[in-house]
Amino acid sequence: WPILAGDIEAILALKRDHNAVILAHNYQTPEIFHTVADIVGDSLALAREAAATDADIIVVAGVHFMAETAKLLNPNKTVLIPDSAAGCSLAESITAEDVRQLRARHPGVPVVTYVNTSAAVKAESDVCCTSGNAKKVIESLGVPRVIMLPDEFLAQNTAAQVPGIEIITWAGHCEVHELFTADDIRSVRESYPGVVVLAHPEAPPEVVAEADFAGSTAGMVDFVGEKRPARVALVTECSMSDNVAVQYPEVEFVRPCNLCPHMKQITLPKIRRALEQRQYEVTIDPALAERARVAVERMLAVR
Ligand code: 13P
Ligand code: SF4
Repeated sequence: WPILAGDIEAILALKRDHNAVILAHNYQTPEIFHTVADIVGDSLALAREAAATDADIIVVAGVHFMAETAKLLNPNKTVLIPDSAAGCSLAESITAEDVRQLRARHPGVPVVTYVNTSAAVKAESDVCCTSGNAKKVIESLGVPRVIMLPDEFLAQNTAAQVPGIEIITWAGHCEVHELFTADDIRSVRESYPGVVVLAHPEAPPEVVAEADFAGSTAGMVDFVGEKRPARVALVTECSMSDNVAVQYPEVEFVRPCNLCPHMKQITLPKIRRALEQRQYEVTIDPALAERARVAVERMLAVR
């Protein structure tokens, strides 16, 4: 990436000069993921690392809800997102008022909220979860019914793992994962004999049913690292395969995949500008943040 070398060098120097750390989600492009990122991972790993860092500035190379989560866990640090318009269809699918109405309709039922939501929605929740710990979080509650929002497919896929627990959900969808179909999986198996198919649980249940494994983005990376399949399809965002392929050149990565337009808003020039101009700073109303932080910290306490 010779054209980007100037940005990479500048970002590395800015990080050193300002005691900054860059957290990058697995869906970031390889030129970010493999060059300037200090910590890479799934949503859960990024939240855990945000809670642990001693950097003064945290740049989140990911989408807005991830930067908000980092800010919730670091109220006294500067948290920057290189493009404030990097959103998420799940986060946009539900408001704090929607959660209040759901609670009124189901009194006493705990609310488990996917981290892919605004701080305002987290503030109305009992506990957060990610795709990497949803089963554990729900089981930790020890109750027969939970409200799990806003991802309908993640809720349905998790319900299949916790028989005996009723899950009330919401009709939010990830615009990347909702596009995959069971036919996509069948045709990839036909075109690539022996392929091992890993699907993200934000995909519809009929897609997960056709896969060999379903898990968070970190779960997929671990699967490839441990099993080293000769051929694998990561049924998720396209940059995942690009990033993991760099680590495992002997593994053949085949598609389908879909691009997340929000994740793709983050670029090296924007990361450089974020550090040079301290933009865009994530702020959350302190009273709201206090309530939202409780839900995130409860999640992090579940092991
Ligand atoms: P995970 O990395 O936690 O699996 O989340 C996937 C995702 O869609 C994040 O936006
Ligand atoms: Fe949101 Fe889906 Fe994009 Fe993740 S991949 S940020 S869940 S739209």
